[in-house]
Amino acid sequence: MADIVIENAVKTFGSVRAVDNISLTIKDGEFVVLLGPSGCGKTTLLRAIAGLGMVDNGRIMIGKKDVTYLPPKSRGISMVFQSYAIFPHMKVYDNIAFGLKMKRVDKETIHKKVTRAAELLHIESFLDRYPAQMSGGQRQRVAVARAIAYEASVLLMDEPLSNLDALLRLEMRAELKTLLNNLGTTTIYVTHDQIEALSMGDRIAVIRDGSVLQYDPPTTLYDHPADSFVGGFIGNPPMNFFDATVRGDRAYIDEFPLQPTPEVQAELQKYNDGDTILVGIRAENMEALNTPADDALKVNVQVVEPLGAQNLLTLRIGSDVIKLSTHPDFHTSPGEDVWVRFPSKRIRWFDRSTGKSLLRADSPQVEAVVQ
Ligand SMILES: Nc1ncnc2c1ncn2[C@@H]1O[C@H](COP(=O)(O)OP(=O)(O)OP(=O)(O)O)[C@@H](O)[C@H]1O
Ligand SMILES: [Mg+2]
Repeated sequence: MADIVIENAVKTFGSVRAVDNISLTIKDGEFVVLLGPSGCGKTTLLRAIAGLGMVDNGRIMIGKKDVTYLPPKSRGISMVFQSYAIFPHMKVYDNIAFGLKMKRVDKETIHKKVTRAAELLHIESFLDRYPAQMSGGQRQRVAVARAIAYEASVLLMDEPLSNLDALLRLEMRAELKTLLNNLGTTTIYVTHDQIEALSMGDRIAVIRDGSVLQYDPPTTLYDHPADSFVGGFIGNPPMNFFDATVRGDRAYIDEFPLQPTPEVQAELQKYNDGDTILVGIRAENMEALNTPADDALKVNVQVVEPLGAQNLLTLRIGSDVIKLSTHPDFHTSPGEDVWVRFPSKRIRWFDRSTGKSLLRADSPQVEAVVQ
């Protein structure tokens, strides 16, 4: 069993708390993604799990063993780091075979595993070359192939596809995910690409300023962000946010009433009349009409982007700009009015000062409103 437990990990560099009290459990065989903006502490956390940089505080367990103070080689892991260190004096084949040779695996098995990893990464024709004779993206694939061929029970990867072009990246991420699933490898994968995270992760830990804001499966993160930062970081376009004014157990955009679910009404009552609340809703979760309706807000269209599968409208609500996705058959033009419906079950509500969701993603109340 190679489950990983991180308890209250802290790592500081001078005054920077790069990892600020992070606790995470990664189940055996799970594919977990660490996602967050540049400088949020992803690499620092991964290095701590690998044993390349010790934590100042906290504990790291791999397969029930406390590895907090063990060197990397005693942790039973394989890794690919952002700066992919491959040996320049070894041909690609020997680079990929390196770990297996160290483990004294027999030649025939090595050959099988090296060939399979090279095929997966589409570098089988480079096996006889030296790294200097390859492009950056090809070298990066050698590093990934080497980590995979080793078949450790835990694989740590830091932006392993960052140097590949978009198409190859798309292909690699699907193949990598399938292979690691089949091998039953416990994987921690770092990226700042939210699409990559959504497509690969069984669960995603969204990190900001050294702290985990939310740790959930992709669909929960997307549908029920625990924090407005998560909603704004995940999805393309990101979740829309605008202000509404609390009155009683309702909230209003000027005089237009939004319809909160009963669970949200109970939360809104904790605010004072006149308080501002942050409303979040995804582009595809609103409905646009060409004619007025009592339950729809009149909004002026600023931009229309015909994107093929959808028409993306840019609208202004108060001082906020939002994006609304319509069917490609929906016709409107900049300067025209449309009427927008906000389905109760699709609205997400956040405290404006803390950014926290009024309903917790794991609360039974949220379960109740998931359609
Ligand atoms: N060796 C170091 N000395 C001092 N500060 C460091 C060191 N390593 C990292 N930091 C700081 O710690 C913070 C987290 O850095 P880290 O490399 O973990 O970020 P990251 O999330 O991996 O970012 P990126 O997506 O850009 O790779 C940053 O503020 C960084 O400047
Ligand atoms: Mg990094």
